[in-house]
Amino acid sequence: MSTNLKGKAIAVTGAASGIGRATAKMLAERGAILAIADLNGEALETVVSELKSSGAVVTGTVLDVRDAKKVEEWITDIVERDGRLDGAANLAGVIGPSTGISLIEDYPYSEFEFILDVNMKGIFNCLQRGGEGQKLASIVNMASVAGAIGMARNCAYVASKHAVVGLTKSAAKECGGCGVRVNAIAPGVIDTPMVRGLDTEIKDINIERTVSVMPMNRLGKPEEVAEVVCWLLCEGSSFVTGSVHTVDGGWMA
Ligand SMILES: NC(=O)c1ccc[n+]([C@@H]2O[C@H](COP(=O)([O-])OP(=O)(O)OC[C@H]3O[C@@H](n4cnc5c(N)ncnc54)[C@H](O)[C@@H]3O)[C@@H](O)[C@H]2O)c1
Repeated sequence: MSTNLKGKAIAVTGAASGIGRATAKMLAERGAILAIADLNGEALETVVSELKSSGAVVTGTVLDVRDAKKVEEWITDIVERDGRLDGAANLAGVIGPSTGISLIEDYPYSEFEFILDVNMKGIFNCLQRGGEGQKLASIVNMASVAGAIGMARNCAYVASKHAVVGLTKSAAKECGGCGVRVNAIAPGVIDTPMVRGLDTEIKDINIERTVSVMPMNRLGKPEEVAEVVCWLLCEGSSFVTGSVHTVDGGWMA
């Protein structure tokens, strides 16, 4: 089975931290030509420097995936520079301060909108603008196990990730005939800054307790998610589209 990514032009959002950063590093190690983007310019610059010093071909762009026009400009620039875009990993995402605290009845409206804007509209922008003028071979969208089940005190994130699954399946049906594959990944609890920021006493979230009910009894590593993203981006997954790949150590089994 081919896992070759050598010379593939791949775009990654959310690449400055956590799963996006691990994915960018893995893609670079496997020879991809990278265009990485993130809202956090300083952290992005660090990742770009690390990748360049290990010999990768990479450009970094400070980008807010909520801004449709800027997403379009970013993708147009990549296609003009590299001549094409072979794959996209749309991984940027957020979780709000009310996660683990607020029920739907008192969930702050502005936070609900913010999370939907980044996690859902951000993916919509990348899907819509990504299709213009070029033929992507494979698109990977970041969902979550929260895209398959409900979770109390986490309504905005859960709604946004269900939307990512819906967008992924719809795009796969629209794009199948032109050879573009669209899949989602659904990680469980992965050891990243996002998750470490959630584990506080005031929130109804305790990582140790969560891990104790998981078959594999541990957090996932960002690299374990990146492996699945890389597989979905390469030709080894050539008949896989419209699917959601759970990477959760058996949590949802
Ligand atoms: N860590 C987990 O357990 C877990 C589980 C399931 C899904 N996810 C999803 O994986 C993705 C990555 O999460 P992570 O855990 O690596 O978190 P992280 O916070 O380490 O990384 C997220 C990155 O997205 C960037 N970002 C946020 N808003 C952005 C915007 N508007 N435009 C561009 N970039 C933006 C951040 O700056 C950050 O670099 C998210 O979509 C998250 O919902 C994470």
